[in-house]
Amino acid sequence: MLDSKIEKALNKQINHEMAAAYNYFAMAAWCEEHNFSGFASWFKMQRAEELTHAGKLYQFVLDRRGSIDLEAVSKPPKKFKDIHEVFEKAFKMEQNNTKSIYELYRLAREADDFATQSHLQWFIDEQVEEEKTFDEIKELLEFAGEDKSALLMLNQQLGSRSTAG
Ligand code: FEO
Repeated sequence: MLDSKIEKALNKQINHEMAAAYNYFAMAAWCEEHNFSGFASWFKMQRAEELTHAGKLYQFVLDRRGSIDLEAVSKPPKKFKDIHEVFEKAFKMEQNNTKSIYELYRLAREADDFATQSHLQWFIDEQVEEEKTFDEIKELLEFAGEDKSALLMLNQQLGSRSTAG
């Protein structure tokens, strides 16, 4: 049986993952509206990945005989200064998500909830990958600066991403 504090925190984490998905959907739209179809496609895959994360937590709560209590997802930003800002914001969001998962892990440890700790290990490892990926893209964008051909090349490169994993 799930401790009610852990159950609440897991539900909150589902909300974080859904919010990330929604933000990436908004970022994909911004990219598409600004003719960066490759970046848009990349963000759409990222969105799908976040929905998978939310689904994993959802199923875990139910498998532990807990209850799902979904909250509203807030409106994501619509306007960005440029593609650099899009990735800076996305990277910051991933860093905040890592903090949130660590906090959840800490709670599970304090409650001697070994199953939740074990489940969260996957998310901890995933966040290392996520932060690395966003940081790399952010740096590549910094190298490209305002050089249109370099930006278009990156746009094309990211557009070739074929999986949401
Ligand atoms: Fe589900 Fe991007 O963290």
